[in-house]
Amino acid sequence: MQIAIDGPASAGKSTIAKLIAKNLNFVYCDTGAMYRTVTLLAKKHNIDYGDSSNILKLMNEHKIHFINKTDGQHVMLDDEDVSDAIRTEEITNNVSQVSAIKEVRTELVEMQRQMAGDINIVMDGRDIGTTVLPDADVKIFLIASVAVRAERRYKENIERGIDTSLDVLKDEIAARDYKDSHRKISPLKKADDAIEVDSSNMNIEQVVEQITKIINQKK
Ligand code: C5P
Repeated sequence: MQIAIDGPASAGKSTIAKLIAKNLNFVYCDTGAMYRTVTLLAKKHNIDYGDSSNILKLMNEHKIHFINKTDGQHVMLDDEDVSDAIRTEEITNNVSQVSAIKEVRTELVEMQRQMAGDINIVMDGRDIGTTVLPDADVKIFLIASVAVRAERRYKENIERGIDTSLDVLKDEIAARDYKDSHRKISPLKKADDAIEVDSSNMNIEQVVEQITKIINQKK
């Protein structure tokens, strides 16, 4: 069974997708982490975020993969655990430029399809239902208002000791949504057969419950 969860930035996709995968004993794949890791790779090598040929060259020289540890899934760049390094403001604010590069998407989409193979998987991202797994059994488009998403990100940041103003977070989230939904190749878009879930007024448990109901109806 393939479950695709797409939606805008900070809508809670990975939190929800991880919990659903755990409950169902499915594999979880965070495709955003892959685009973030390519962005980190460019940064480490001082390559411009729009330099497609050098970014592609780097991607071919390095390996992006996931490993499972007791505290959850970790993202690896070769032998280095980059799970925290890909979540900095610098990466978050530049990933949309890298993810708009056609060659980067072609490579990562191929990797994502191979990971999905014929196993039970929950995959989250922006183009899973439209492009990566167009035949997914369940497609969810998870949304929430910009205000709610900024508020959630604000609380997460405070827990991590980062104090960014709510207005700055709102602007950053809106800017990333704009770039992701206006790029030429597989922009962020609800698939025609996706079910929209608005989590603005729901807590995590309620969202998991609603999506689990949708999955059970398809089983
Ligand atoms: O999900 P997350 O916020 O970590 O994604 C980071 C970025 O990666 C997105 O803003 C988008 O630019 C890109 N992305 C994408 N396609 C996906 C997943 C993420 O373009 N399937």
